[in-house]
Amino acid sequence: MYFLLLLLGLTGAAIAHHSVNERAASTYWYQSIKHDGLGSSKTYVVYRNVKDYGAKGDAITDDSAAIQKAINTVDGSSTAIRSGAGLTGQPAVVYFPPGTYLLNSGLKNIMGTVMMGDPTSRPILKAGAGFKDNILLIGQQGAGGLDTFFHEIKNLVLDSTAVPPAKSILLLQFSVSQACQLSNVMFNMPIGATGHIGVQTAGQVMPLLMNDLQFFGGAVGYSAVALQLQLKNWYFKNVDTAIKVGDTLTQVTGQGLRFEGCRIGLDATSGGSGHFSLIDSTATNTSTVVSAAASTSMQGSMVLENVIVDSSTVKIAETTVLTGSVQPGSTWIRGNIYSGDSSTATPNYSNGTKITTSRPMALVNGTGHYYTVAPPTYEEYDISNVINVKDVASYKVAGDGQIDDTESLQAIINAAAGKQVLFFPHGTYILTDTLFIPPGSRLIGEAWSTFSAYGSKFKDPKNLRAMIKIGNPGDVGVAQMTDFLFTTSDFLPGAVLVEINMAGDKPGNVSGFNCHFLITGASTASCKTPAACTTARLCAHFTASSSAYWENSWATGQSGGSATPGAAGGFLIEAVNGTWILGLGTEHHDLYQLNINNAKNVFLGLEQGESPYWQGSGNTVVNPAPWTNALLPSDPDFDWCAASDVQCRMALYQKISGSSNINLYGGAFWNFRSGPMQTICSSDCQTNAVLYENNTQMYSYGISTINDKNLVMESGVRGNSHAITVTQAANSGDPLAGFPQDKPAICAGYFRQS
Ligand SMILES: *[C@@H]1O[C@H](CO)[C@@H](O)[C@H](O)[C@H]1NC(C)=O
Ligand SMILES: *[C@@H]1O[C@H](CO)[C@@H](O)[C@H](O)[C@H]1NC(C)=O
Ligand SMILES: *[C@@H]1O[C@H](CO)[C@@H](O)[C@H](O)[C@H]1NC(C)=O
Ligand SMILES: *[C@@H]1O[C@H](CO)[C@@H](O)[C@H](O)[C@H]1NC(C)=O
Ligand SMILES: *[C@@H]1O[C@H](CO)[C@@H](O)[C@H](O)[C@H]1NC(C)=O
Ligand SMILES: *[C@@H]1O[C@H](CO)[C@@H](O)[C@H](O)[C@H]1NC(C)=O
Ligand SMILES: *[C@@H]1O[C@H](CO)[C@@H](O)[C@H](O)[C@H]1NC(C)=O
Repeated sequence: MYFLLLLLGLTGAAIAHHSVNERAASTYWYQSIKHDGLGSSKTYVVYRNVKDYGAKGDAITDDSAAIQKAINTVDGSSTAIRSGAGLTGQPAVVYFPPGTYLLNSGLKNIMGTVMMGDPTSRPILKAGAGFKDNILLIGQQGAGGLDTFFHEIKNLVLDSTAVPPAKSILLLQFSVSQACQLSNVMFNMPIGATGHIGVQTAGQVMPLLMNDLQFFGGAVGYSAVALQLQLKNWYFKNVDTAIKVGDTLTQVTGQGLRFEGCRIGLDATSGGSGHFSLIDSTATNTSTVVSAAASTSMQGSMVLENVIVDSSTVKIAETTVLTGSVQPGSTWIRGNIYSGDSSTATPNYSNGTKITTSRPMALVNGTGHYYTVAPPTYEEYDISNVINVKDVASYKVAGDGQIDDTESLQAIINAAAGKQVLFFPHGTYILTDTLFIPPGSRLIGEAWSTFSAYGSKFKDPKNLRAMIKIGNPGDVGVAQMTDFLFTTSDFLPGAVLVEINMAGDKPGNVSGFNCHFLITGASTASCKTPAACTTARLCAHFTASSSAYWENSWATGQSGGSATPGAAGGFLIEAVNGTWILGLGTEHHDLYQLNINNAKNVFLGLEQGESPYWQGSGNTVVNPAPWTNALLPSDPDFDWCAASDVQCRMALYQKISGSSNINLYGGAFWNFRSGPMQTICSSDCQTNAVLYENNTQMYSYGISTINDKNLVMESGVRGNSHAITVTQAANSGDPLAGFPQDKPAICAGYFRQS
């Protein structure tokens, strides 16, 4: 019954809103669906097809000015230019139909912009032979840096093959931080071009994940500087230096990198690399897969695991230190290693050694690779099978941040399950109760379509309630969420923003891509006590029955300015049948950032974390307050700290308890500011970063901290309780460029093999 009504509503809208020409140009549903996303004002335009702004895409006309206008404009008609100052107030999707867009000058992006091509035939942005500038696309607003959020580039080809090979040209400057996406982009450069670079990140940048990229030709594929980053499924062919590490590259995981016909895969000879894990990667016809500098400190810490080569070698200071492949089942590791059953603060330093390791069967495919999934575009769906949730005749959905959309959305989601893809135009969808996502659901947003919890049902910290609930325990099937933002518009200490109970029928079938949590709360002027100001209980809970894949996700509990508690926890993982988390940033939550509790079979590609800025020296709301009376059994109680020791009672970045078959490839744990005045930190601002308790078969590679006194504390080995096993002092790294006062530390590997 619902189903019939839905189809009628949709068909009417599609005919009314789209010209025949537009539909003929592409088969991709997104181009032809009704575009009624809401921005900051009634006249604000979210969706911009570059052809509507004069771009031709004919490979002859210079489209630079037309595309720049599509990026800049507020409403298409006036000369007002988007500020991009707010995080989501003026979002824009700059959409490219198939074609070759000739550019004689470079483009510049604005915060809140998704530059997106038709994935069924990726459009080409091609620098002309007379290209005037040195950068084809400046992908970020401003100079780039720590506050550069919400920039996306996907489904495009950037091409410099017409530009003289010796001319200096960078195809993409992408100096961004969290909640950004670079996905499904090809960088096409002339083979042997000495001046051409594919993508560059520079300065103080904190990106989380860049995925599914291809590089052809050029001098350098990726010129890399970042505090942390995961690279997933990057293919390099005939690039001279695939990845060139710059002066600060602190904690990076490269997963599924393929080097083919390159001179060198990863060039870390500048000495700037902190820790690099290279996993599930191949090198063919590439003379050197990795080249690192001789190092005297922890710089150049490295892990190679399942790296299959034909003849490539690994070099340190130009000396070959490894020949042949590193097969699944072993790990080549360089740096400080903590293994065996030792509970000692003295590491074993290795300049490169192979150790026996294991990967859980539940996490890998037939050749021992961890499963990975590309973000869905639903390009295989015809427009008749995609529903705009605001365009359903029988159910009114506003997405305006005011009207309660809970009931209408639930009815639409129930009716579409197993049938249609649901498209959520940009806007804020208010939920006053749980929205249930049943098996067979495929939900896709637009420039971070937002779900915001509101109201009394989410207020009791002793009676937790999910805002988005993905399946019930025992449910098995498909549930995917892509391009969403989860938030609250009230103080909701009982809210769990996303709860996953469903398991995929195949690995990765329950999944989230480019979904972020931004819980800055309502105005603290309207709450009186710290407990009353708390914003949410948990960002995400992967319960015991779930099995999910979650990629490129930022969960931030507070804006930098907040001086009070926010959400109690970031991500809580209790799943046993396979969990894959890639490129996770979890920051400023009160008790912990990531908690893996009584779990099994967890793969973590990269976790970035930061402590709440308001905790630490001078703070008076000391953990576990204000949550003392509402703690879950899985929460840390901080009873290992003296009652008044505020630096000990700071949120853990990572807590892993009672778990087995846990494989972690990067912990990037930063402490930049602390205390009520949010003083810039120098040296030991926080006592403990990580707590491991009673785990078996756990491999934690690349744990980096800034300004934490201890990296790892462990309980349950030989009866120990909260023993300090990895200290800053025994693992100190070189000061980071741009952070001269900070004390970085890097541990290459920490294992519980039995
Ligand atoms: C190896 O790569 C080089 C470019 O670096 C290329 O010229 C050559 O043809 C490749 N050889 C094979 C066998 O693919
Ligand atoms: C590591 O090995 C390389 C190559 O043999 C050597 O040049 C370098 O000095 C060694 N580094 C350390 C810290 O031992
Ligand atoms: C260092 O290696 C020795 C010998 O293999 C081992 O007994 C000891 O536990 C190791 N120490 C650490 C901290 O892993
Ligand atoms: C496992 O995944 C890797 C990477 O995607 C792929 O190359 C390989 O073919 C897969 N193996 C099997 C048996 O599917
Ligand atoms: C479910 O997972 C399998 C195996 O990875 C994959 O082939 C299939 O496409 C997935 N289904 C969906 C709807 O993503
Ligand atoms: C894990 O998967 C197995 C096999 O499919 C199933 O029997 C078991 O119930 C699952 N465990 C949980 C906690 O859901
Ligand atoms: C760890 O194991 C010990 C001994 O079995 C037990 O006493 C302790 O409660 C456990 N701790 C946790 C956090 O599971």
